Amino acid sequence: MIDTKVFKIDEDSPDTGLIKEAGAIIARGGLLAFPTETVYGLGADATDSRAAKRIYAAKGRPSDNPLIVHISDMDMLKTVAEGEFDRVEALAEKFWPGPLTLILPKSDRIPAETTGGLDTVAVRMPAPRVARLIIEAAGVPVAAPSANISGRPSPTRADHVLEDFSGRIDAVVDSGDSVIGIESTILDLTAENPVILRQGFIQGRDIGRVLGCEVSEGPAMEETDRPKAPGMKYKHYAPNTELICFTGRAESITEEINRRIQSSRYRIGVICSEETKDSYNGAITYCLGSAHDGRTMMHRLYATLRQLDADGIDIAYCEDFGDSEYATVITERLHRASDGNIIRL
Ligand code: TXA
Ligand code: MG
Repeated sequence: MIDTKVFKIDEDSPDTGLIKEAGAIIARGGLLAFPTETVYGLGADATDSRAAKRIYAAKGRPSDNPLIVHISDMDMLKTVAEGEFDRVEALAEKFWPGPLTLILPKSDRIPAETTGGLDTVAVRMPAPRVARLIIEAAGVPVAAPSANISGRPSPTRADHVLEDFSGRIDAVVDSGDSVIGIESTILDLTAENPVILRQGFIQGRDIGRVLGCEVSEGPAMEETDRPKAPGMKYKHYAPNTELICFTGRAESITEEINRRIQSSRYRIGVICSEETKDSYNGAITYCLGSAHDGRTMMHRLYATLRQLDADGIDIAYCEDFGDSEYATVITERLHRASDGNIIRL
């Protein structure tokens, strides 16, 4: 066990001394968790194969699941990726710093350990000033997967990171809640036509508008043995609580969940919306927000999954949140978190 330091750094007036100290941990090959606008990342020097291996070991992550490389500016981009930068620059202009990850041909500076053996690299420029200042202080691109033990819900607060990694990483930078709350959209630019490999806050439609072409969604996990984003084949985001998702008509779902609550001896939780939270008796409700407010629902999703465990819930049922633009992203995460435990009504 090591003593995991906590650096509280204010996004609006970052303490220069602490930023330096945080950057130095990465520069000397250590592990530093830091905030991004999506989720907290577990960072290490992306150019150092031993540091990358430390990330895999700490997370218990399969070594064929590549890491996302975080950069602080466009000059750094050119040290990690190669090829034509026209489309990249157009997308960066519109979406960076922000929650869009691009898959590009990798440069020699990035070792195979960082990219899980692939000859491509995933890159993004995170939005928080604190994150970019830390990368700048480290002086190297920073490899950072979500800062959770492999398979667990992603962390949206520093205390989630400590739940999984206290005593096992050098430090965590605490700047409060991640604003968005789910991971970045991943766009593969190495294929002939751009493909979204993981959905997120930035939508294919908006990317297509910048590129002036169609952007397709990658094949669903079930359709391929070898998904293009290798991480997508593994179980994800899962609480220890058994999670069961429903799809179908709202009224039928509420009725079925209530029937199950009445006939169960277990401690039941229901993940629901503001509009339905008073429809359940005898269960603890976890309201993600109004069904019309996808941003809030997204923001609360992972903290809610962690809360189920903290509250000792045996079984959690989850409503169908419809097909508004963010609801589909939320549902994709929930279905994975349930490990395919989906009941169609
Ligand atoms: O929002 C985010 O992207 C967060 C924050 C910390 O930036 N990071 C994150 O990293 O979600 P992680 O490791 O949990 O997910 C990375 C995903 C995996 O599914 C991985 O397979 C995919 O990115 N990926 C990374 N490099 C890739 C590559 N070269 N080709 C295809 N997929 C790649
Ligand atoms: Mg992850």
